Parts: sequence; C-alpha cells; structure tokens
Amino acid sequence: MSVQGLDHIGIAVSDIDGIISLYRDVLNMAVLDEESVPTQGVRVVKLDAGNTHVELIEPLADDTPVGKYIAKRGEGIHHICFSVKDLRASLRLMAEKGYRPLTPEPQKGASGREVVFLHPKDARGVLIELSAPALS
Ligand code: CO
Repeated sequence: MSVQGLDHIGIAVSDIDGIISLYRDVLNMAVLDEESVPTQGVRVVKLDAGNTHVELIEPLADDTPVGKYIAKRGEGIHHICFSVKDLRASLRLMAEKGYRPLTPEPQKGASGREVVFLHPKDARGVLIELSAPALS
C-alpha cells in the first residue's frame, strides 16, 4: 500500500449552509466543488485547505450513515482520507492482514474518485477512507 497524501478531512455537519461561512469567508478557503452523492447519502462541499482539502458532509436524510452518525456522536471530524495509488491492491492487503473494509469492493465517492472505508473498530476509533481516481 502506498499512501500518497492526505486527500481530505471529512467533517460531518447537520447543515452545510449554517457553517460554510466560517470556512469560506473567515478562513478564506476556496470552494472547489459541491455535489450530492446519493450512493453515500450525503451532500459534500469541498474546500481548498492548501496541501489538502476539507470536506463538509451533510446527510441527505436521517437514516443515512452520516445522519445516524450525527444523531449518535454529534457533529465533528468524521473521517480522514488518504489517497493511494491502487485501491484494489490496498483492499487485498487489508484483507490479508485481517482488517475489515466496510465494503468488499471500491465505491463511487465524490469528485469522480473511488473510495473504500476501513472499519473504525479496526483503527482505534478512526474512520479511515482510502481514495484513488476511478478506473474508467
Ligand atoms: Co471522504
């Protein structure tokens, strides 16, 4: 597995519109992208944080994974995402070493990338996302 960098920090919020001003207008981070990702049940706004990104993540409904997360643990840092070269190789290695990805195959993520999440119980409470450009 070769991690190439910190792709983004995901921050779960109940309403992006209520907090975006802090990031955009006070911290002066440029908004790079905004999209809904129905497969993940979220609306995402991606901001430029220099050498990485911040992603504000708002649940599309209460019964989505992020909606349930906020109900249980409140808003805050939800996950960190490392970019990797080869998501499938990373998945294979995780399985070999006994770690449990949340899905057996890469899923479609934001910004045309493929992603895999590692179970937080296998990572001392940290939800780790691995991300790579989608194979086309
Ligand atoms: Co993410």
